[in-house]
Amino acid sequence: MFLYSHPRLYRLYLYLVYGKYLNERTKDILDLLEDDDVLELCCGHAPLALYLKEYEGVDSSLEMLLSAEGRDVALFHCSVMEFRPTRENMTVLMQASLYQFMDVPLIERILSWKPKRIIIAEPYRSLGSSWISKLCTGTSYKFTEESLREWFAKHGFTVVKKNYRELVGVRSCW
Ligand SMILES: C[S@@+](CC[C@H](N)C(=O)[O-])C[C@H]1O[C@@H](n2cnc3c(N)ncnc32)[C@H](O)[C@@H]1O
Repeated sequence: MFLYSHPRLYRLYLYLVYGKYLNERTKDILDLLEDDDVLELCCGHAPLALYLKEYEGVDSSLEMLLSAEGRDVALFHCSVMEFRPTRENMTVLMQASLYQFMDVPLIERILSWKPKRIIIAEPYRSLGSSWISKLCTGTSYKFTEESLREWFAKHGFTVVKKNYRELVGVRSCW
C-alpha cells in the first residue's frame, strides 16, 4: 500500500498523528512487555527492536523492514497469515494493524502458535476520510471506541490502557 511502501512518509505520518504522544505510546507498550520474548506482527520499521532483548518482527512491506534501524534482530518479510514462528511461548504484539485483518481468522491463527500473551494496541480514532485511508493503507475499515471494545471483549481481551488515540488489549493464553 502507498503509505507502507514509503517508510519516510509513514514516519512523518506517525509524527503528525501522535505528535508528543509518540514516546508515551512506546513507553506504555514497553511497560506491558516487561522481559518477555516478543514477536511483533506488522512491525513496520520495528522501532521497539531498539529497546527489547528478545525481539522478532514480521511485516509484508520490504521497504518498511529495510528502513529498520539499530540492533541486529530477526525481521521476517511475510504476510502474517502465512507466517509460522519458530518458537512457542512468545508475547505476540500488534500495533495499529488490526483493522487490516477484519475478514480473516487472525486470532485463531495466532493462538495456533501457542503464545504466552497477545497484546493489541489499536486506534479508535482515525484521521481523514475513508477514501484517503483506502488510498494510503489499502482498507477503509475504521474502529470506533465502542466497536473496538466490543471486538476485544468478543475475543477474550481485557482493555488495560487507553491513550488519546488507542486502546490496548491483552489476552493471556495460558
Ligand atoms: C499502520 S502500519 C503499523 C506499523 C507499526 N505497527 C506501527 O504501529 O507503527 C501497518 C503495517 O502492517 C503491515 N501489513 C499490512 N498487511 C500485512 C500482512 N498481511 N502481514 C504483515 N504485515 C502487514 C504494513 O506493511 C504496515 O507496516
